[in-house]
Amino acid sequence: MEILSAKNLAHSFDYDLFEDVSFDLQKKQSIAIIGQSGSGKSTLLHIISSLLKPNAGEVKLFGKDIYSLKPKKLMQLKREKIGLVFQSHYLFRGLSAYENLEVSEILSGKKIDEDLLEKLDVKHCMEQKVTELSGGQQQRISIARVLTKQPSIIFADEPTGNLDASTAKEVMDLFFDYCKNSGAGMVLVTHDTKLAYMCDKVYKLENKQLIEEK
Ligand SMILES: Nc1ncnc2c1ncn2[C@@H]1O[C@H](COP(=O)(O)OP(=O)(O)OP(=O)(O)O)[C@@H](O)[C@H]1O
Ligand SMILES: [Mg+2]
Repeated sequence: MEILSAKNLAHSFDYDLFEDVSFDLQKKQSIAIIGQSGSGKSTLLHIISSLLKPNAGEVKLFGKDIYSLKPKKLMQLKREKIGLVFQSHYLFRGLSAYENLEVSEILSGKKIDEDLLEKLDVKHCMEQKVTELSGGQQQRISIARVLTKQPSIIFADEPTGNLDASTAKEVMDLFFDYCKNSGAGMVLVTHDTKLAYMCDKVYKLENKQLIEEK
């Protein structure tokens, strides 16, 4: 069964961004969405990850139509199953890196994975306040936070945008390994074509359509 099913999505702000967008995501599958700046990639990701109701169309996550779920049920689904890594990091700025991970630990009931912190090379900055971390360190902490909760589906918007090429590759390998080992699926939005083509499928958002490129 698909874990995500998007049907006939359309959305506009000042102008029409896209119309009649449909695609599915299976367990263990990764798909990338590429396209010009302003084409609506982040908007589409917000829609399929339950943050923004589309003007038209339907989004099902794990078989449930998310925009007709009761708020409490939707919150539960988000907390238990959805992992979001966005362009801005949404870390709690007054807290240390470790305290940010503890929040995730408490909310999800899953333990912080010390191996993961090692792999992300953030172990040494755990006691620092978020405001004292570099952009790339913040990005890696937010990835650690998302993987700590062991989501069944990951939505990532330029998750490696602040990282140098070799760190980006290592971080993406962590995501791919996580999906393979846990059965999770991933939707990745990126400008990095090479990274996109590491996914099972690649779609391009262009001329208001989502076109399958791989
Ligand atoms: N909340 C909003 N209110 C009004 N307009 C918005 C809103 N969010 C996005 N837009 C507009 O919608 C268009 C698409 O934005 P979006 O962030 O989805 O593009 P994108 O493809 O992710 O671009 P980038 O590659 O630069 O991140 C832009 O013109 C943007 O200004
Ligand atoms: Mg964007």
